Amino acid sequence: MKSWTFFPWRLFRWFVTQQVVAAGVLYLALSAVLAYAFPSDRATMLIALALGFLTFVPVSLWTARRLLLPLGRIIEKTRRMREFPFGDDEVDPEAMAFDEPGEWYEMERALNRLGRDLRVKTIRLSREKTELRAIMSASPEAVLAIDGESRVLFYNPQFAYLFSPKGDPGEVTLSELLRSPDIIAAYSEAMTTGKPLRREVQEEVEADKQPRDFLLSIAPLAKKHNQEIYGVVGIFHDISEMKAAERIRIEFVGNVSHELRTPLTTVNGYLQTLKADLEKGRLEHASEFLKILSLNVSRLKSLVEDLLDLSSLESGKELKIETVNVQDITEAVLRQLNAQSHKIHLHYEFGEMQADGKRLEQVLRNLLENAVRYVPEGKNIEILWSKPSAAKVELHVKDDGPGIAPKHQARLFERFYRVDEARSRATGGTGIGLSLVKHIVQRHGGEVHVKSTPGVGSEFICEFPI
Ligand SMILES: Nc1ncnc2c1ncn2[C@@H]1O[C@H](COP(=O)(O)OP(=O)(O)OP(=O)(O)O)[C@@H](O)[C@H]1O
Ligand SMILES: [Mg+2]
Repeated sequence: MKSWTFFPWRLFRWFVTQQVVAAGVLYLALSAVLAYAFPSDRATMLIALALGFLTFVPVSLWTARRLLLPLGRIIEKTRRMREFPFGDDEVDPEAMAFDEPGEWYEMERALNRLGRDLRVKTIRLSREKTELRAIMSASPEAVLAIDGESRVLFYNPQFAYLFSPKGDPGEVTLSELLRSPDIIAAYSEAMTTGKPLRREVQEEVEADKQPRDFLLSIAPLAKKHNQEIYGVVGIFHDISEMKAAERIRIEFVGNVSHELRTPLTTVNGYLQTLKADLEKGRLEHASEFLKILSLNVSRLKSLVEDLLDLSSLESGKELKIETVNVQDITEAVLRQLNAQSHKIHLHYEFGEMQADGKRLEQVLRNLLENAVRYVPEGKNIEILWSKPSAAKVELHVKDDGPGIAPKHQARLFERFYRVDEARSRATGGTGIGLSLVKHIVQRHGGEVHVKSTPGVGSEFICEFPI
């Protein structure tokens, strides 16, 4: 154990000097008085007094030491307490310097109790701080707290990642970090009202230089003893994906209604005319009308089937994976399609693969249907089943048709997206085909992409992992 080393030398010197000076003065005064009163025994008396004075000095030293030693230990103990519990002191913090009951003993015990409380509170506080910091770091939400003067108190790593703040907490203000006036207004409102609030806000994110939607929840920070608001903390919950999904859903419902309305209006119109004609006994146009009616009804039917297909793919219905012969599938699809007007080229680099046969057939049918529909008659359509590596197989459908401009290529696989809406609709397209293709390939764990040059042709590539 480390020994007690602190001794209050200054107090000791002061104490001893005071005593020695006082004794010296007393000695001089007494010597003068005695020398005057007893002139005959002067020598003996002066010697006696000098001896008395000399004995007094060690006694004074001893008393001072005895009195001040405990004080030194108490001072040393309080000094060590400041470093608890993180100092590397190997001394037992509660080791008693005094073992005899008395004032010093009581004082040390009280000090020990105080130290113990302090230690427990410091450890708890530091643990809470560590836990809080871990939670904040692990949180996927960005967190930012500011004080009453809008100066930043703290932010978490996710906030730093999203908004790349320039400057450390304490140096920058809210308006230097974030631009959105809505965010600044929300923070200052929570500060003035002292009430928690929630707002949907938008802010450009440094990481991708794009505005993102956030649900911002702000709560005031109040002092414990008097409830005075000294700052506010805000949590940024990223809802961009949810917002995008909502937009897609609204768009989707709009698109579906639009697509259904067009053939339904036609059907309704022709039915009315047919009814009126029948009432008048005129039948010469009936078969023509029925043909149009049947065309529109089958268009409606195929649209609804496509939508049901999409929804069943999206709802995660299991695929029926089996061994599929790609040549059989290709020939079956070609038989269904009226593809004699184009030059078809077939290449097979492998014979069989593992896939959902019906779905794979749907992929090929949609790609070929597009090629036949959008590529002028007499041009080439090439179907290639290739195996570029041991890990994947690919289906290529390539044509030398009109091609697709780069600006459309990224959106081609979205539901209802058509390059030339009027033309595609005239040929019976609804813009669902390629989104079905994408879904099916993705459900197989693969990817689909397009390579196309306007005026040269297009190539759709579906990759399937083995
Ligand atoms: N081989 C191709 N050459 C040129 N353009 C194409 C080709 N394939 C697709 N496209 C364009 O991509 C758009 C989207 O195709 P998609 O198959 O998704 O819809 P669609 O053919 O219009 O309708 P659906 O397939 O639902 O009947 C088409 O409207 C067409 O403009
Ligand atoms: Mg299509």
